[in-house]
Amino acid sequence: MRKQVIAGNWKMNKLLGESEQFIDEVKGQVPSADQVESVVVAPFTALHSLVQKTKGTDVKIGAQNMHFEESGAFTGEVSPEMLKDIGVEYVVLGHSERRELFGETDETVNKKTHAAFKHGLTPIVCVGESDEQRENNETFTVVENQVKNALEGLTTDQVKATIIAYEPIWAIGTGKTATAADANEVCAHVRQAVKEFAGEEAAEAVRIQYGGSVKPANVEELLGQSDIDGALVGGASLQPESFLALVEAGK
Ligand code: G3P
Repeated sequence: MRKQVIAGNWKMNKLLGESEQFIDEVKGQVPSADQVESVVVAPFTALHSLVQKTKGTDVKIGAQNMHFEESGAFTGEVSPEMLKDIGVEYVVLGHSERRELFGETDETVNKKTHAAFKHGLTPIVCVGESDEQRENNETFTVVENQVKNALEGLTTDQVKATIIAYEPIWAIGTGKTATAADANEVCAHVRQAVKEFAGEEAAEAVRIQYGGSVKPANVEELLGQSDIDGALVGGASLQPESFLALVEAGK
């Protein structure tokens, strides 16, 4: 049985004080980590403080990106070791906004995934098709290629520990959600792709989230699908009540 993982991706939102206030409000109320993984994916500026504030609680902290290099002349970048050093446990990689606006490629996502495992971070690897690709019936091919390229070269145990987030680009921040059945169909296809290149055990263990306009009103139906093991949520994760409703649904 795969444990659901609900991650709130705050994107470029919340100042430090707002982030701390959010954590103060939710940390005593999230369900036990034995039942569901509750992750707050915060901006870099809040990470250290939020890790300190969530010590001994059931809230885990993730970063939204990192570089794959260990250290050196990479102005403006943050290394995997820096994240690990301050106690961050998860890192979102290859979000479509980073692919589209900041030149992230399948190759850099693959390097970052390897780097995450090297430094003991759990990668949340994002994949998803554009509106145009969906119209052209390319969804399965696009998503399958992104998954295979991102996970290329990982050991079976690493594939098992990876979280894949299927986020159709046309559903992000638009209010348009894939129907639960459609989202599940793509997630099942992703699992099949994992089975083909990493084997059945890895495919059964890997967790696949859905992301794209997830909110308290639709989360239960999405999480009730056979191949959806959690949600990566943007807008609806910014308010404490709504974040709590989302993680509660993951129990
Ligand atoms: O990573 C989460 C995301 O891209 C979905 O955003 O606002 O549609 O939930 P949103």
